Amino acid sequence: MTFEKILVTGAAGQIGSELVPFLSDHFGSSRVIPSDVRPNTNDPRFISLDVTDKGAVEKAIDKYRIDTIFHLAAILSANGEKNPELAFKVNVVGLYNIFEVAVSNKIGLVMTPSSIGVFGPDTPKENVPIETITRPVTMYGVTKLLAETLGYYYHSRFGLNARGLRFPGLISYKNPPGGGTTDYSIEMIVEAVKGRSYKCFLREDSKLPMMYMPDALDSLLRLAEADDSRLKHRTDFNVTSFSITPKELEMELREYYPSFRVTYQPDFRQAIADSWPASLDSSAAINEWGFHPRYDLKSTTADMIAHLK
Ligand SMILES: NC(=O)c1ccc[n+]([C@@H]2O[C@H](COP(=O)([O-])OP(=O)(O)OC[C@H]3O[C@@H](n4cnc5c(N)ncnc54)[C@H](O)[C@@H]3O)[C@@H](O)[C@H]2O)c1
Repeated sequence: MTFEKILVTGAAGQIGSELVPFLSDHFGSSRVIPSDVRPNTNDPRFISLDVTDKGAVEKAIDKYRIDTIFHLAAILSANGEKNPELAFKVNVVGLYNIFEVAVSNKIGLVMTPSSIGVFGPDTPKENVPIETITRPVTMYGVTKLLAETLGYYYHSRFGLNARGLRFPGLISYKNPPGGGTTDYSIEMIVEAVKGRSYKCFLREDSKLPMMYMPDALDSLLRLAEADDSRLKHRTDFNVTSFSITPKELEMELREYYPSFRVTYQPDFRQAIADSWPASLDSSAAINEWGFHPRYDLKSTTADMIAHLK
Protein backbone atom coordinates (compact mmCIF):
# COMPACT_ATOMS: atom_id res chain seq x y z
CA MET A 1 0.00 0.00 0.00
CA THR A 2 1.27 3.49 -0.75
CA PHE A 3 0.28 7.15 -0.28
CA GLU A 4 -2.19 6.49 2.59
CA LYS A 5 0.28 7.96 5.15
CA ILE A 6 3.35 9.72 3.86
CA LEU A 7 6.32 10.59 6.08
CA VAL A 8 8.51 13.41 4.77
CA THR A 9 11.91 13.62 6.51
CA GLY A 10 13.95 16.83 6.34
CA ALA A 11 10.63 18.53 5.61
CA ALA A 12 11.72 21.98 6.84
CA GLY A 13 14.38 22.28 4.14
CA GLN A 14 14.39 23.85 0.68
CA ILE A 15 12.58 20.97 -1.04
CA GLY A 16 10.56 19.75 1.93
CA SER A 17 8.96 23.11 2.64
CA GLU A 18 7.48 23.00 -0.88
CA LEU A 19 6.96 19.25 -1.17
CA VAL A 20 4.77 19.11 1.95
CA PRO A 21 2.09 21.52 0.59
CA PHE A 22 2.45 19.93 -2.87
CA LEU A 23 1.80 16.40 -1.54
CA SER A 24 -0.94 17.74 0.74
CA ASP A 25 -2.73 19.25 -2.28
CA HIS A 26 -2.34 16.03 -4.23
CA PHE A 27 -3.14 13.38 -1.59
CA GLY A 28 -4.90 15.38 1.18
CA SER A 29 -3.20 17.16 4.07
CA SER A 30 -4.13 14.54 6.72
CA ARG A 31 -2.09 11.95 4.81
CA VAL A 32 1.18 13.89 5.05
CA ILE A 33 3.38 13.81 8.18
CA PRO A 34 6.20 16.34 7.86
CA SER A 35 9.21 15.75 10.10
CA ASP A 36 12.59 17.35 10.70
CA VAL A 37 15.31 17.57 13.31
CA ARG A 38 14.37 21.28 13.45
CA PRO A 39 10.59 21.14 12.90
CA ASN A 40 8.60 23.99 11.38
CA THR A 41 6.51 25.24 14.29
CA ASN A 42 4.02 26.99 11.97
CA ASP A 43 2.63 23.64 10.82
CA PRO A 44 0.86 21.66 13.60
CA ARG A 45 1.33 18.41 11.66
CA PHE A 46 5.13 18.63 12.05
CA ILE A 47 6.88 16.06 14.23
CA SER A 48 10.42 16.26 15.54
CA LEU A 49 12.46 13.40 14.07
CA ASP A 50 16.21 12.86 13.92
CA VAL A 51 16.83 10.24 11.22
CA THR A 52 20.12 9.20 12.81
CA ASP A 53 18.06 7.85 15.73
CA LYS A 54 16.79 4.49 14.46
CA GLY A 55 14.51 3.93 17.46
CA ALA A 56 12.82 7.30 16.84
CA VAL A 57 12.34 6.50 13.13
CA GLU A 58 10.83 3.14 14.07
CA LYS A 59 8.45 4.77 16.61
CA ALA A 60 7.27 7.45 14.16
CA ILE A 61 6.59 4.93 11.39
CA ASP A 62 4.66 2.72 13.75
CA LYS A 63 2.73 5.54 15.47
CA TYR A 64 1.55 7.20 12.25
CA ARG A 65 1.12 3.93 10.30
CA ILE A 66 3.40 5.20 7.56
CA ASP A 67 3.36 3.38 4.20
CA THR A 68 5.37 5.85 2.06
CA ILE A 69 8.51 7.88 2.83
CA PHE A 70 9.98 10.88 1.04
CA HIS A 71 13.42 10.92 2.64
CA LEU A 72 14.86 14.43 2.26
CA ALA A 73 16.90 14.76 5.47
CA ALA A 74 20.48 15.41 4.39
CA ILE A 75 23.55 17.62 4.73
CA LEU A 76 24.26 19.28 1.37
CA SER A 77 27.51 19.68 -0.57
CA ALA A 78 29.06 22.90 0.77
CA ASN A 79 27.95 22.25 4.37
CA GLY A 80 29.12 18.66 4.03
CA GLU A 81 32.65 19.82 3.24
CA LYS A 82 32.58 21.97 6.37
CA ASN A 83 31.45 19.00 8.48
CA PRO A 84 32.10 15.70 6.66
CA GLU A 85 31.45 13.62 9.79
CA LEU A 86 27.94 15.04 10.16
CA ALA A 87 27.32 14.58 6.41
CA PHE A 88 28.26 10.90 6.70
CA LYS A 89 26.12 10.43 9.78
CA VAL A 90 22.97 12.04 8.38
CA ASN A 91 23.30 10.98 4.73
CA VAL A 92 24.48 7.41 5.29
CA VAL A 93 23.44 6.31 8.79
CA GLY A 94 20.16 8.23 8.45
CA LEU A 95 19.38 6.57 5.12
CA TYR A 96 20.38 3.12 6.44
CA ASN A 97 17.95 3.59 9.34
CA ILE A 98 15.18 4.58 6.94
CA PHE A 99 15.81 1.56 4.66
CA GLU A 100 16.06 -0.88 7.60
CA VAL A 101 12.86 0.34 9.23
CA ALA A 102 11.14 0.47 5.82
CA VAL A 103 11.90 -3.21 5.20
CA SER A 104 10.81 -4.38 8.65
CA ASN A 105 7.59 -2.32 8.42
CA LYS A 106 6.82 -3.30 4.80
CA ILE A 107 6.82 0.33 3.63
CA GLY A 108 5.48 0.49 0.05
CA LEU A 109 7.75 3.21 -1.34
CA VAL A 110 10.88 5.12 -0.24
CA MET A 111 11.83 8.14 -2.33
CA THR A 112 15.47 9.19 -1.90
CA PRO A 113 16.60 12.19 -3.96
CA SER A 114 20.18 11.93 -5.12
CA SER A 115 22.32 14.64 -6.70
CA ILE A 116 24.74 15.60 -9.45
CA GLY A 117 27.18 15.48 -6.51
CA VAL A 118 27.71 11.78 -7.35
CA PHE A 119 29.80 12.84 -10.34
CA GLY A 120 33.44 13.87 -10.14
CA PRO A 121 36.28 15.40 -12.15
CA ASP A 122 36.74 12.18 -14.18
CA THR A 123 33.10 12.25 -15.32
CA PRO A 124 32.58 13.60 -18.87
CA LYS A 125 31.29 17.19 -18.86
CA GLU A 126 28.45 17.26 -21.40
CA ASN A 127 25.26 15.23 -21.82
CA VAL A 128 26.38 12.81 -19.11
CA PRO A 129 24.50 9.48 -19.06
CA ILE A 130 23.42 7.68 -15.88
CA GLU A 131 26.07 5.00 -16.22
CA THR A 132 29.39 6.82 -16.36
CA ILE A 133 32.47 7.40 -14.20
CA THR A 134 31.21 8.37 -10.74
CA ARG A 135 34.16 9.22 -8.53
CA PRO A 136 33.00 12.16 -6.37
CA VAL A 137 35.48 14.38 -4.51
CA THR A 138 33.12 15.64 -1.79
CA MET A 139 31.82 13.76 1.24
CA TYR A 140 28.34 14.75 0.04
CA GLY A 141 28.95 13.05 -3.33
CA VAL A 142 30.39 9.96 -1.67
CA THR A 143 27.34 9.64 0.59
CA LYS A 144 24.90 10.21 -2.29
CA LEU A 145 26.60 7.57 -4.44
CA LEU A 146 26.46 5.13 -1.53
CA ALA A 147 22.78 6.02 -1.05
CA GLU A 148 22.00 5.19 -4.70
CA THR A 149 23.84 1.86 -4.46
CA LEU A 150 22.19 1.02 -1.15
CA GLY A 151 18.80 1.65 -2.80
CA TYR A 152 19.58 -0.90 -5.53
CA TYR A 153 20.81 -3.33 -2.86
CA TYR A 154 17.68 -3.05 -0.70
CA HIS A 155 15.54 -3.46 -3.82
CA SER A 156 17.29 -6.60 -5.05
CA ARG A 157 17.87 -8.16 -1.63
CA PHE A 158 14.63 -7.25 0.19
CA GLY A 159 12.29 -6.10 -2.60
CA LEU A 160 12.17 -2.58 -1.16
CA ASN A 161 10.57 -0.13 -3.60
CA ALA A 162 13.35 2.49 -3.35
CA ARG A 163 13.33 5.19 -6.03
CA GLY A 164 15.41 8.29 -6.55
CA LEU A 165 16.63 10.89 -9.00
CA ARG A 166 19.77 12.96 -9.30
CA PHE A 167 18.65 16.54 -8.89
CA PRO A 168 20.75 19.31 -10.40
CA GLY A 169 20.91 22.70 -8.64
CA LEU A 170 17.38 23.64 -7.57
CA ILE A 171 16.10 27.21 -7.85
CA SER A 172 13.22 28.29 -5.59
CA TYR A 173 12.01 31.29 -3.59
CA LYS A 174 9.98 29.95 -0.62
CA ASN A 175 12.78 28.74 1.65
CA PRO A 176 16.49 29.63 1.63
CA PRO A 177 18.74 26.99 0.04
CA GLY A 178 20.44 24.51 2.38
CA GLY A 179 24.17 25.08 1.81
CA GLY A 180 24.75 23.68 -1.69
CA THR A 181 27.12 24.72 -4.47
CA THR A 182 24.39 26.02 -6.78
CA ASP A 183 22.92 28.33 -4.08
CA TYR A 184 24.50 31.28 -5.94
CA SER A 185 21.63 31.20 -8.47
CA ILE A 186 18.98 31.88 -5.83
CA GLU A 187 21.13 34.43 -3.99
CA MET A 188 21.82 36.31 -7.24
CA ILE A 189 18.13 36.59 -8.14
CA VAL A 190 17.21 37.68 -4.60
CA GLU A 191 19.89 40.42 -4.57
CA ALA A 192 18.88 41.67 -8.03
CA VAL A 193 15.24 41.98 -6.92
CA LYS A 194 16.37 43.88 -3.80
CA GLY A 195 18.23 46.34 -6.06
CA ARG A 196 21.64 45.31 -4.72
CA SER A 197 24.79 44.04 -6.40
CA TYR A 198 25.97 40.44 -5.81
CA LYS A 199 29.33 38.84 -5.05
CA CYS A 200 29.28 35.39 -6.65
CA PHE A 201 31.28 32.54 -5.10
CA LEU A 202 31.67 30.74 -8.45
CA ARG A 203 33.51 31.83 -11.62
CA GLU A 204 31.36 33.50 -14.24
CA ASP A 205 31.85 30.60 -16.70
CA SER A 206 30.94 27.71 -14.32
CA LYS A 207 28.26 25.92 -16.29
CA LEU A 208 26.01 23.68 -14.20
CA PRO A 209 22.66 21.92 -14.71
CA MET A 210 19.66 23.52 -12.97
CA MET A 211 15.95 23.04 -12.38
CA TYR A 212 13.11 25.20 -11.07
CA MET A 213 11.30 23.87 -7.99
CA PRO A 214 7.89 23.25 -9.67
CA ASP A 215 9.63 20.86 -12.09
CA ALA A 216 11.47 19.18 -9.19
CA LEU A 217 8.19 18.58 -7.32
CA ASP A 218 6.47 17.33 -10.46
CA SER A 219 9.33 14.93 -11.17
CA LEU A 220 9.29 13.53 -7.61
CA LEU A 221 5.57 12.80 -7.93
CA ARG A 222 5.88 11.32 -11.43
CA LEU A 223 8.63 8.96 -10.33
CA ALA A 224 6.76 8.06 -7.12
CA GLU A 225 3.62 7.16 -9.09
CA ALA A 226 5.40 5.48 -12.01
CA ASP A 227 4.45 1.95 -13.01
CA ASP A 228 7.10 -0.31 -11.47
CA SER A 229 7.21 -2.57 -14.53
CA ARG A 230 8.51 0.35 -16.65
CA LEU A 231 11.48 1.09 -14.38
CA LYS A 232 14.85 -0.24 -15.51
CA HIS A 233 16.66 2.13 -13.16
CA ARG A 234 15.73 2.82 -9.55
CA THR A 235 17.63 5.37 -7.50
CA ASP A 236 19.87 7.19 -9.98
CA PHE A 237 17.75 8.83 -12.70
CA ASN A 238 19.44 11.89 -14.20
CA VAL A 239 17.05 14.85 -14.41
CA THR A 240 17.80 18.34 -15.67
CA SER A 241 15.96 21.31 -17.15
CA PHE A 242 18.63 23.75 -18.39
CA SER A 243 22.35 24.45 -17.95
CA ILE A 244 23.64 27.94 -17.18
CA THR A 245 26.71 29.87 -16.09
CA PRO A 246 26.51 32.59 -13.42
CA LYS A 247 27.22 35.13 -16.20
CA GLU A 248 24.22 33.94 -18.22
CA LEU A 249 21.99 34.37 -15.16
CA GLU A 250 23.46 37.84 -14.54
CA MET A 251 22.71 38.85 -18.15
CA GLU A 252 19.16 37.48 -17.89
CA LEU A 253 18.61 39.51 -14.70
CA ARG A 254 19.89 42.64 -16.45
CA GLU A 255 16.88 42.36 -18.78
CA TYR A 256 14.84 43.33 -15.70
CA TYR A 257 17.41 45.33 -13.74
CA PRO A 258 19.82 47.01 -16.23
CA SER A 259 22.08 48.40 -13.49
CA PHE A 260 22.46 45.03 -11.73
CA ARG A 261 26.14 44.04 -11.33
CA VAL A 262 27.91 40.88 -10.17
CA THR A 263 31.52 40.51 -9.04
CA TYR A 264 33.09 37.06 -9.17
CA GLN A 265 35.18 35.88 -6.22
CA PRO A 266 35.35 32.08 -6.27
CA ASP A 267 35.80 30.33 -2.90
CA PHE A 268 36.11 26.64 -1.91
CA ARG A 269 32.85 25.89 -3.70
CA GLN A 270 34.52 26.48 -7.08
CA ALA A 271 36.41 23.18 -6.76
CA ILE A 272 33.11 21.39 -6.11
CA ALA A 273 31.47 23.05 -9.13
CA ASP A 274 34.49 22.18 -11.30
CA SER A 275 34.06 18.52 -10.42
CA TRP A 276 30.44 18.40 -11.65
CA PRO A 277 29.11 18.00 -15.21
CA ALA A 278 27.77 20.92 -17.24
CA SER A 279 24.83 19.00 -18.69
CA LEU A 280 23.05 15.67 -18.21
CA ASP A 281 21.27 13.12 -20.36
CA SER A 282 17.82 12.60 -18.80
CA SER A 283 16.48 10.23 -21.47
CA ALA A 284 15.99 7.32 -19.04
CA ALA A 285 13.74 9.52 -16.84
CA ILE A 286 11.82 10.64 -19.93
CA ASN A 287 11.35 7.09 -21.25
CA GLU A 288 10.76 5.22 -17.98
CA TRP A 289 8.45 7.61 -16.10
CA GLY A 290 7.64 10.58 -18.32
CA PHE A 291 9.98 13.25 -16.91
CA HIS A 292 8.77 16.49 -18.48
CA PRO A 293 10.32 19.77 -17.24
CA ARG A 294 8.50 22.95 -18.24
CA TYR A 295 10.76 25.78 -17.05
CA ASP A 296 13.83 27.14 -18.87
CA LEU A 297 16.12 29.97 -17.72
CA LYS A 298 13.80 32.70 -19.01
CA SER A 299 10.59 31.37 -17.47
CA THR A 300 12.34 30.45 -14.21
CA THR A 301 13.80 33.96 -13.85
CA ALA A 302 10.48 35.61 -14.71
CA ASP A 303 8.55 33.48 -12.21
CA MET A 304 11.17 33.93 -9.44
CA ILE A 305 11.10 37.72 -9.87
CA ALA A 306 7.29 37.82 -9.93
CA HIS A 307 7.13 35.96 -6.62
CA LEU A 308 10.05 37.68 -4.89
CA LYS A 309 8.66 41.12 -5.68
N1 LIG B 1 18.40 21.73 -3.10
C1 LIG B 1 19.15 21.25 -4.10
O1 LIG B 1 19.64 22.02 -4.95
C2 LIG B 1 19.38 19.75 -4.21
C3 LIG B 1 20.07 19.29 -5.34
C4 LIG B 1 20.33 17.93 -5.45
C5 LIG B 1 19.85 17.05 -4.49
N2 LIG B 1 19.18 17.52 -3.41
C6 LIG B 1 18.74 16.52 -2.40
O2 LIG B 1 17.40 16.74 -2.00
C7 LIG B 1 17.23 16.40 -0.63
C8 LIG B 1 16.65 17.59 0.14
O3 LIG B 1 17.51 18.69 -0.06
P1 LIG B 1 17.15 20.18 0.40
O4 LIG B 1 17.68 21.09 -0.63
O5 LIG B 1 15.74 20.29 0.81
O6 LIG B 1 18.12 20.29 1.67
P2 LIG B 1 18.03 21.29 2.92
O7 LIG B 1 19.39 21.36 3.51
O8 LIG B 1 17.35 22.56 2.54
O9 LIG B 1 17.05 20.49 3.89
C9 LIG B 1 17.47 19.32 4.54
C10 LIG B 1 16.70 19.21 5.84
O10 LIG B 1 17.18 18.07 6.54
C11 LIG B 1 17.13 18.39 7.91
N3 LIG B 1 18.03 17.50 8.66
C12 LIG B 1 19.37 17.60 8.80
N4 LIG B 1 19.81 16.62 9.62
C13 LIG B 1 18.73 15.89 9.97
C14 LIG B 1 18.53 14.77 10.80
N5 LIG B 1 19.57 14.18 11.44
N6 LIG B 1 17.28 14.28 10.93
C15 LIG B 1 16.23 14.86 10.31
N7 LIG B 1 16.35 15.96 9.53
C16 LIG B 1 17.59 16.46 9.37
C17 LIG B 1 17.53 19.84 8.01
O11 LIG B 1 17.08 20.41 9.23
C18 LIG B 1 16.88 20.42 6.77
O12 LIG B 1 15.63 21.01 7.07
C19 LIG B 1 18.61 15.96 -0.13
O13 LIG B 1 18.71 14.57 -0.21
C20 LIG B 1 19.55 16.59 -1.13
O14 LIG B 1 20.75 15.85 -1.23
C21 LIG B 1 18.94 18.86 -3.24
